[in-house]
Amino acid sequence: MTPLRAVKGMNDVLPDEVGRWQRIEQAFVQTLSLHAFREVRTPYVEPTPLFVRAMGEGTDVVEKEMYSFVHHGDELTLRPEGTAGAARAYVEHSVHSREPVTRWWYIGPMFRAERPQRGRYRQFTQVGAEIFGDEGPGSDAEMIDMLVGLCTALRVPGVEVLVNSLGGPATRAQYRDALAAHLAPKAASLSPDSLRRLSTNPLRILDSKDERDRAAVADAPTIHEFLGDADRQHFAKLREYLDALGTPYSVDAGLVRGLDYYTRTLFEIKGAADKLGAGNTLVGGGRYDGMIADLGGPRVPALGFAAGLERLLIASAVESSAAVIDALVAPIGPDAIGPGLALARELRAEGIRCEVDARGSSLKSQLRRANLLGARLVLILGESELRENSVQVKDLEAHTQERMARDQALRIVVDRLLAASRTVDAAASQPIRERP
Ligand code: HAM
Repeated sequence: MTPLRAVKGMNDVLPDEVGRWQRIEQAFVQTLSLHAFREVRTPYVEPTPLFVRAMGEGTDVVEKEMYSFVHHGDELTLRPEGTAGAARAYVEHSVHSREPVTRWWYIGPMFRAERPQRGRYRQFTQVGAEIFGDEGPGSDAEMIDMLVGLCTALRVPGVEVLVNSLGGPATRAQYRDALAAHLAPKAASLSPDSLRRLSTNPLRILDSKDERDRAAVADAPTIHEFLGDADRQHFAKLREYLDALGTPYSVDAGLVRGLDYYTRTLFEIKGAADKLGAGNTLVGGGRYDGMIADLGGPRVPALGFAAGLERLLIASAVESSAAVIDALVAPIGPDAIGPGLALARELRAEGIRCEVDARGSSLKSQLRRANLLGARLVLILGESELRENSVQVKDLEAHTQERMARDQALRIVVDRLLAASRTVDAAASQPIRERP
């Protein structure tokens, strides 16, 4: 029989890799809670019209990347991102009536039917956050600064922050017309994709990497020429705050991003171009001050970001601790298995991770297993240990072996392992505090 394989672009994460995932997730969760964000969990499936309304019909995601289906007459879609669902939940539960400012974060799988390549998958994981009810630009600067700190803590090389402002919907509409007018005479020289976008979503042509499109937009007007006073001031304040925080960034007037909901601030954080190539946008975000009202809620401004965890995993130099257990309990012979299980239960009650090799293996093979699982200590229970109510404690790091009375062994082992784990924890949390 042909073995079945996972769906193209959807990957398994095996236990050996999970440690690095968890370190990156923990760094985000720790940082987001320091910034007063609370976790929200929304469904993986939402009504299709939610994404069409929130993200815009002319976007690549809505046009061709959504996993949509009809079930018993309901039009449903596997969420391609988290913002629309969070905004829907915010409106549906009238959260604005209880709190003036809401800070939510989320983590979980997203689904887009893209052409898979390194750093681009059909099921991928985003950690993201949204702020509702704060017009900024202080919170915009705080969010960007927080993300730069996180990328630094995760030891991402070559971090680059791009910011831009799109103004409000009226500015965008004016700019869209001006850009379309500029590009219309050059239509014949555009790539086929951009030619199509000229009538649907000309702003996306600014994003194109195609040389023909780059040449056509080189002398195009920029959105900054169309910003009104309030938008201009908002953007100037954002830059002022970032300067004051010492957060590095550059202004990219061509940054538009692929989703239609953005207003005013836009940002992207890139890094590790050597490992990710052109698809090295690790984090994308911005303001979407109109979405809550568009979804039937009150006029509440909003801002957020999402980071792709798979990309961060490729980009980050952070390692996971390889150890799966702290101690292996090694019973030698069938009579030692019962006492071994009891000893392991006492160790676990003290917070020590351990495994009992209860297969009746030889000591040599149990030591190999201890090495494989990264155990620091092996607690050997052989015939003579059982007779004398003692245990042999082999320290694989210090290369020592001592026989101890069973009553004392537990305390000594626990103290030694906890002291070692405190040192490891302190070392592991160190980079989180590092700043650029
Ligand atoms: P986005 O730019 O579409 O924004 O995605 C954010 C991040 O998700 C990207 O920078 C990338 O790291 C990751 N990502 C996107 N697509 C894929 C894929 N196919 N495979 C792997 N990683 C991917 C949003 O999703 C917005 N909801 C962000 C936001 C939140 N804006 C405001 N609030």
